[in-house]
Amino acid sequence: MRSEKERVINPESSIDEIRLAARAAADVRDKLPQMIRPGMTTKQIDDLAAMLIAASGGKSAFFGYKGYPGQICISVNDEVVHGIGSPARRVEHGDVLSLDIGIELNGFIGDNATTMVVGGTVPSSDVQRLLDGTREALEKGVRSALAGNRVRDISAAVEKTAKRYKLGIVREYVGHACGRNLHEPPEIPNYAVRDRGPELRPGMVLAIEPMLNLGGKDVVTDKDKWTVRTRDGSISAHFEHMVLVTNNKPEILTWLKT
Ligand code: MF3
Ligand code: CO
Repeated sequence: MRSEKERVINPESSIDEIRLAARAAADVRDKLPQMIRPGMTTKQIDDLAAMLIAASGGKSAFFGYKGYPGQICISVNDEVVHGIGSPARRVEHGDVLSLDIGIELNGFIGDNATTMVVGGTVPSSDVQRLLDGTREALEKGVRSALAGNRVRDISAAVEKTAKRYKLGIVREYVGHACGRNLHEPPEIPNYAVRDRGPELRPGMVLAIEPMLNLGGKDVVTDKDKWTVRTRDGSISAHFEHMVLVTNNKPEILTWLKT
């Protein structure tokens, strides 16, 4: 008999539906950045996301979640996660923009995030290091999502990469399993904790999402109760994939197969 805790971690039978939701989220994550121009407001970006999400046949998995008011999360520069599209906030050339997109499709959730530089601007070497390091931390985390490994193996791989790039690791927000619900156990911290966590089994779907800063690890939350930003004002990046644990290599569900 499977325990209740095990059963909430997406059973294999629903994997095709999770795949479709993940692909829808990945499609929006790929298309939206191409539509973003300097001078747009983050509300306009949220509206574009709403249009793309509607075209996918799904709906935002974030809107209304614990009262979240946006369609997607749009976090600029020192904002780490959960930034809300605003008509008063314009993005400019060189801004570092994190886009976190969650779609509910046929009762299942797709969740992924990317970070881009607005306009054609060549990023500073520090911003390039931030983007390279956060992308690579995600990649190393994904590669550790192997059956028989523990959750901590993913965390340790992310942490090791973040440290190699000398980036601050946000501790307050973590990855998670994903299925019928946006957040299912277990949590996946971006640093190794004492507890090695549950063993990874084929059929588990995990959202791995390093949030790394050019400066220190500490974050503060704005008066809007949502926007999380770095305490020291340093720039932050966020990349997220959903991966399926298999008997072989992990399968990234938020990559679009052409
Ligand atoms: N994408 C975030 C995550 O993976 C969730 C955003 S929180 C919300 O946990 F409130 F905006 F939905
Ligand atoms: Co997530």
